[in-house]
Amino acid sequence: MRWWGGRRLAVGLLLWCGALSTLIAAPDAVSAHEPRAGVNAVASAHPLATAAAFEIFAAGGNAFDAAVAISATLAVVEPTGSGLGGGGFWLLHRASDQRQIFVDGRETAPAAAHERMYQDSDGKAIDKASRDGPLAAGIPGEPAALVHLAERYGKLDLARSLAPAIRAARDGFACDDKLAGAFDRHWRRLSAEARRVFAIDGLPPVTGDRILQPELALTLQRLAGNGHAGFYRGEVAQRLVDGSRRDGGIWSLEDLRSYRVVERKPTVSHFRNVRIVSAPPPSAGGITLGATLGQLEALGWREDQGVSGKHLVIEALRRAYRDRAAWLGDPDFVQVPQRRLLSTDHARTLAAGIDPDRATRSADLEPARSPPQGPQTTHFSVLDAQGNRVAATLSVNLPFGSGYMAPGTGVLFNDEMDDFSASLESSNAYGLIGSEPNLIRPHKRPLSSMSPTFAEGPHGVLIVGTPGGSRIITMVLHALLAWAGGADAQAIAALPRYHHQYLPDVVQFEPGAFTAAERQALHEMGHVLRPLDSTYGNLQAITVAADGTVAAASDPRGVGLAHVE
Ligand code: GLY
Repeated sequence: MRWWGGRRLAVGLLLWCGALSTLIAAPDAVSAHEPRAGVNAVASAHPLATAAAFEIFAAGGNAFDAAVAISATLAVVEPTGSGLGGGGFWLLHRASDQRQIFVDGRETAPAAAHERMYQDSDGKAIDKASRDGPLAAGIPGEPAALVHLAERYGKLDLARSLAPAIRAARDGFACDDKLAGAFDRHWRRLSAEARRVFAIDGLPPVTGDRILQPELALTLQRLAGNGHAGFYRGEVAQRLVDGSRRDGGIWSLEDLRSYRVVERKPTVSHFRNVRIVSAPPPSAGGITLGATLGQLEALGWREDQGVSGKHLVIEALRRAYRDRAAWLGDPDFVQVPQRRLLSTDHARTLAAGIDPDRATRSADLEPARSPPQGPQTTHFSVLDAQGNRVAATLSVNLPFGSGYMAPGTGVLFNDEMDDFSASLESSNAYGLIGSEPNLIRPHKRPLSSMSPTFAEGPHGVLIVGTPGGSRIITMVLHALLAWAGGADAQAIAALPRYHHQYLPDVVQFEPGAFTAAERQALHEMGHVLRPLDSTYGNLQAITVAADGTVAAASDPRGVGLAHVE
């Protein structure tokens, strides 16, 4: 059955939003970091998720309730990126006491997991074992995080905030172009149950098809009715575990029962007069961003340096990503020297090794091993009229996670176990080798690149993040540098992107990110350039200017919707 196409859906929602569809609200006199009174703003990867947030605002909810509604709706309408079977990070700013909290709803390794679980008898990683099927899945954190956000920070009942997602799952939504393309590419990876749920007349959905997920609606209802126990105990838990064990996984009821989110202190770093609040371990985001910005500050980097400035960014990234590979893992299991890695001294030491005219070979830096990252995931940014903020990046890792759906649950399992180092000696999905701090241990969280971030300075506030695997951190870096230089939300979301991550020792870049002259100059400096044949990322940004003007932008590469009302 055909229904609305993705673009028509976006247009329809814009019309639905009617008078509220201005991307930029008029200025009004309020303090530098507070939005114009009465203004809510959302940027998300799907129009229905943005609409869900505004439904919750209209019902009296705050930014944290809206974050619950957006997360749950994305779990329904963007199953490639995140879901109840996955996890994520929610960075919060509570206006009433200015508290900033990092809610870590990252997946954990099951109790039966072990260091060699994806290795053959020679210690080599077995192809796809950590990526396809239920053995690839960590214990999901997203349902627990939604309960936590609603109970601790929201104003509304969990059930109210989950209502838009339940409706979308039960009554269906229109498949957009991006989702149709993903179904087409990944259909064969999906388990029989996932194909049964998503198929339209036995075939992968195409643009405009209406996708119904009655089992997921029921699972969401159980979560709405019973909170943590609605997912992690009882019938849902039993079905998840039965499915997992029948089809080769190792989840237990106790793994689910004992899952808890962790509240952590965000990282804080500075660049010029901007304060950057971001994701601490088990994300690599905040430390890698802080170390890169620290080097650029030490080098006196400026926006107007042209290709020399881009060379400095690449070199700073090379060194920060080397640190990432060498040191970072779940802080509950390994000691992460966070203070040292974020210190000015360390940034100066790294910067001192940068030649302003020549690329360093990564092989000439002290060796470190780099852990894997996936290309999928999702991000949203929220601001409410009281000044509460959320930047949240959620994931099931690869598109549709492991592809496995436990019968009768509608829950797609993540394959976040691939973000661990399956082996020190073997390459992962991205040709990267493993690192000691990120080896698998029972109950440990795999290292992530997800980097929900706030920047705060004299010219206002930025709420930002994006999906994109190991490239997330560089996309957020480009956004921070552009915002510090005065760029607006739309320009930040549209910025052309380039990336270096220490290993492989190449500069990856989107079509159009460098001019021909810049490519030539970078080549002559010794950089190995790897042009990509498509764009990447799906950045969602909200800005509050010093005068309280609020703007929001959704990445033009995606089908998302930003809205200020
Ligand atoms: N699975 C993507 C990340 O956590 O970085």
